[in-house]
Amino acid sequence: MSYFKITGGTPLYGTIAVSGSKNAALPIVCAAVLAGEPCRIENLPDIEDVHRIIEILSAMGATIEQPCPSVAVIDPRSITEYRVSNEMASKLRASYYMLGALLGRYGHAEIAQPGGCAIGQRPIDYHINGMRSLGANVLDRGGIITAVAGELRGADIYLDMASVGATINIMLAACRANGRTTINNAAREPHVVDVANFLNAMGASIRGAGTDVIRITGRRDLHGCTYAIIPDQIEAGTYMVAAAATKGDVIIKNIIPAHLEAISAKLMECGVEVIEGDSGTEFFMHVRAKERPRAVNIRTLPYPGFPTDLQQPMTSLLAVAYGNSFVTENLFEDRFNHVRELNRMGARITLNGRTALVAGVEKLYGAEITATDLRAGAAMIVAALMAEGTSIVRNIHYIDRGYEKLTEKLRGLGANITRVEE
Ligand code: UD1
Repeated sequence: MSYFKITGGTPLYGTIAVSGSKNAALPIVCAAVLAGEPCRIENLPDIEDVHRIIEILSAMGATIEQPCPSVAVIDPRSITEYRVSNEMASKLRASYYMLGALLGRYGHAEIAQPGGCAIGQRPIDYHINGMRSLGANVLDRGGIITAVAGELRGADIYLDMASVGATINIMLAACRANGRTTINNAAREPHVVDVANFLNAMGASIRGAGTDVIRITGRRDLHGCTYAIIPDQIEAGTYMVAAAATKGDVIIKNIIPAHLEAISAKLMECGVEVIEGDSGTEFFMHVRAKERPRAVNIRTLPYPGFPTDLQQPMTSLLAVAYGNSFVTENLFEDRFNHVRELNRMGARITLNGRTALVAGVEKLYGAEITATDLRAGAAMIVAALMAEGTSIVRNIHYIDRGYEKLTEKLRGLGANITRVEE
């Protein structure tokens, strides 16, 4: 088992480039199944979750070439298998996108219940109900979901919650359905828009992505395309928090500033200097902090609210704030596994249901800590970078799922971090 050894206390300093968005890349790779020709996908992040979704496509028979880790050319014409096994599906949550993609392309899909981070119950009933509304016959037996449709028909669908996964999955199936589909109360996250843009580049007709009403007119034939994935909003946000936490001075490149408004606003409320810049050829974010942050309250919400995926790293920062912060998690009922680990480093955080009361302390101390899920892992990295002394971060396979070249990127900013292979 590998682990990170981090000696904290060094302010991060320098420039860092953000990789492609994980949560856009995963459905986009699945969406390539819908094309009748090869698709070239660029700016793929070189992370475990992307490797796994590519493995799933390969196991189904797709021909995939990767001239370099950030590019995949996917030819779906050789697919012969419409099934995602339990072994494959349990490895990542995004395997559920194969339901919409296979159903849209072949009218038949069989996938095991998806795995992913243990941050709550995470049902997929909206996905299943969406496929049923489109005319599919969906059975869930013993954790295996089978969906069959002679012909998918456009439908008017309302989501009880603005679910990212369900919005994208329904878009995937609906873009080859017969007629028009409307998704009401759709998720508005940047990766929803990116998937819609990719599908439109393949010839689909999707309007309104980025608003809460998405309209899809089904098209029979989707063609190949070349498409570059947007930068990862959560990776960018994580490095912004890490810069603030270490009282650093960091320029974060390859970003879309509008996607970072919630985290920028909260960091500024903490007293951190956040300056949005434009070099003429690209945007960047300059984050600078000289002092301990001020306490602020956080409530996670669907986009454009504060992202649940940044709640955990932000809690690490607030652990050393002046004053008390309330952090309320509205999306996932069990996304506080990082709290116990932070308290082992000297934080004073108490939990009351979905709210954490973070009583700021002057500093955290290095400890042996465990990443309990992907973003809890990011929280551990932020905490260890600012703590006094050395920390060992275990269970880093979670972090490898979503952060490309984390050690290299942080070392480039002067962090004292090494990956130790046991
Ligand atoms: C996706 C992201 C995850 C991110 C989350 C919120 C991927 C692979 N994962 O997860 O990183 O934290 O969006 O931005 O992209 N819900 C239901 N039934 C459903 C679907 C969702 O009740 O069928 C509920 C969930 O339990 C949760 C809420 O809706 O409370 C939002 O979930 P959703 O947006 O679907 O998140 P995921 O797709 O699981």
